[in-house]
Amino acid sequence: MKIKFATIDESEEIILLAQESFKGIFRVIGDVIRSSCEKNNILIATDNNEVIGYMRVIVDTLNPHIHISEMGVKSEHRGQGVGKQLIDELQKLSNSYPLTVKTNIANDFYKKMKFEFVGHDFSKNGKHKYEILILGEYNYSLIKALKGTRPRHTCSLKDLKNIPKNKSLLGIVT
Ligand SMILES: CC(C)(COP(=O)(O)OP(=O)(O)OC[C@H]1O[C@@H](n2cnc3c(N)ncnc32)[C@H](O)[C@@H]1OP(=O)(O)O)[C@@H](O)C(=O)NCCC(=O)NCCS
Repeated sequence: MKIKFATIDESEEIILLAQESFKGIFRVIGDVIRSSCEKNNILIATDNNEVIGYMRVIVDTLNPHIHISEMGVKSEHRGQGVGKQLIDELQKLSNSYPLTVKTNIANDFYKKMKFEFVGHDFSKNGKHKYEILILGEYNYSLIKALKGTRPRHTCSLKDLKNIPKNKSLLGIVT
């Protein structure tokens, strides 16, 4: 199994995997996946060139952290360590910035990956309650940011490796 950045050529396969993973939970928007591939914000796990897992992220440069928007593993490959390898690779690429997620469906998976529960958030219509989970160092302003609107200052995950550790991400937009 290989973990790598997804290219636009893999986007349609990722969309099918996302639709399978989130059937009945939320509607997958193809253009969001395509644009995230183009911006180097999707990691995939492949087995013999077949996409068996994916993870889509948003890198917030204002309140530096890497947010896992969603991830999914093909049902026949679940429980074989694919999700863990995606998280491990993200940590390697993270340049020590914290990883965050908001979820109400795979909370125990992330907790097993050592994410810490820091609070709750709700969907816009108030119908859905999510746990906010963080792996790495965090402060109050990060939790506040996670409860707020989508980050407006972002960069690509691939670009993080070029940024010296502990350097502010402020102003870095790609
Ligand atoms: C959640 C998901 C990504 C996990 O991927 P995976 O490849 O099956 O996970 P792994 O095999 O790497 O599991 C790592 C560990 O977490 C555990 N685990 C996996 N999914 C779990 C879950 N839903 N609840 C609790 N523990 C879970 C595994 O048992 C394993 O434990 P171990 O190390 O003691 O053996 C996958 O089940 C999936 O695609 N689910 C549907 C979509 C979803 O819920 N996505 C996440 C929300 S965005």
